[in-house]
Amino acid sequence: MEEIKDKKTILVLGASSFLGVNLISYLKTNHRVIGTYYNTPIHFKDVLTVRLDIFNKKALDRLVFAFRPDIVIYCIGQNSLTRCGKYRNAAEALNTSGVVNTVSTIEKYGTKFVYFSSPHIFSGDKGNYSERETPMPSTVLGGTQANSEFYIQKNSLNYLIFRVCNLFGRSYNPGKPNFLEFLENKFFYHEPFYCDNSVSTGWFSVLLLAKIVDMAIRKNLSNRLLQVCSNEALNQYEFAKIYAKVHKLDTSFVSQRRVPFPLDEKKAMVSGVGNADYLDFSMSVQNLLSVFNLKIPKIDSMVHNYYTMLGLNIKAAAAPTQKSEIKYI
Ligand SMILES: NC(=O)c1ccc[n+]([C@@H]2O[C@H](COP(=O)([O-])OP(=O)(O)OC[C@H]3O[C@@H](n4cnc5c(N)ncnc54)[C@H](OP(=O)(O)O)[C@@H]3O)[C@@H](O)[C@H]2O)c1
Repeated sequence: MEEIKDKKTILVLGASSFLGVNLISYLKTNHRVIGTYYNTPIHFKDVLTVRLDIFNKKALDRLVFAFRPDIVIYCIGQNSLTRCGKYRNAAEALNTSGVVNTVSTIEKYGTKFVYFSSPHIFSGDKGNYSERETPMPSTVLGGTQANSEFYIQKNSLNYLIFRVCNLFGRSYNPGKPNFLEFLENKFFYHEPFYCDNSVSTGWFSVLLLAKIVDMAIRKNLSNRLLQVCSNEALNQYEFAKIYAKVHKLDTSFVSQRRVPFPLDEKKAMVSGVGNADYLDFSMSVQNLLSVFNLKIPKIDSMVHNYYTMLGLNIKAAAAPTQKSEIKYI
């Protein structure tokens, strides 16, 4: 990695999250990084981590005053479509009120705010959404993220929004296996399982996203919204098959079926997808390609590269930490 002269001080809120762990592991090489956790203490070499409740505005203010970060990266949130649907208030608090707290706290220091949204700010009616299209969420998660995007764009003078498709990679919290970890465990133990075949989306390596975030920081990009998505759109079943193909695994025990998608009844009615048989949340990436000289790899190459970069293969997959049912995570 090339030497970076202008090291930034970066505060990662939610260092214990799947995204936070992967971002910090990448960014700490070139920047001074401080991280926060809430219920899951986490330690990295050369990174100070502290406990923070995002609703404790005074504590957040003290943290920002003490470290004067150049950049605050917000990795706190409830990213599960199902849990957001079940616990709407908690989702709104974490995904939106936490953002408002943070933006209003750091504004006086001129700190850059980095936020990760998702294609769920769209309804899923057609796919290939561009950055210019008006958000029209059909889920509670999408509603909370659309509100945050709107708030940030109206109130922050220095922001970056990455609207990111489904990310794959290893997480930190063994109690919350993500979809890739679910696949690793099922294939490792040869357990028959099924995946959804009715919702398509992009799939992107979390390590490649970390690289893009670092590139944006080095370029000092500001006040931009960049969609990050693969060129292909796959449902969970198709992704599982690609995962198996890359690792040369037997796919006979993976089957497909339609898994109920946690639509928000009212939002789905307004956006016209209430009775849709098929949803597509894929996005185009014009802004990203106009800023960076990038060629987005195909999904199978990204999966292959992910394991090669980590020096891992399926044989090294961790033992399952819990029995998990397939659901929209
Ligand atoms: N994962 C994806 O594919 C994806 C795609 C697009 C956008 N995003 C967005 O990226 C962000 C991170 O997603 P993720 O999947 O990495 O999340 P995650 O693994 O579920 O982690 C959630 C984080 O929120 C923290 N947290 C929860 N309650 C808190 C509180 N009251 N105060 C402070 N921190 C609290 C948790 O801390 P503890 O564990 O320490 O309690 C944890 O670090 C979310 O905003 C998500 O919507 C994710």
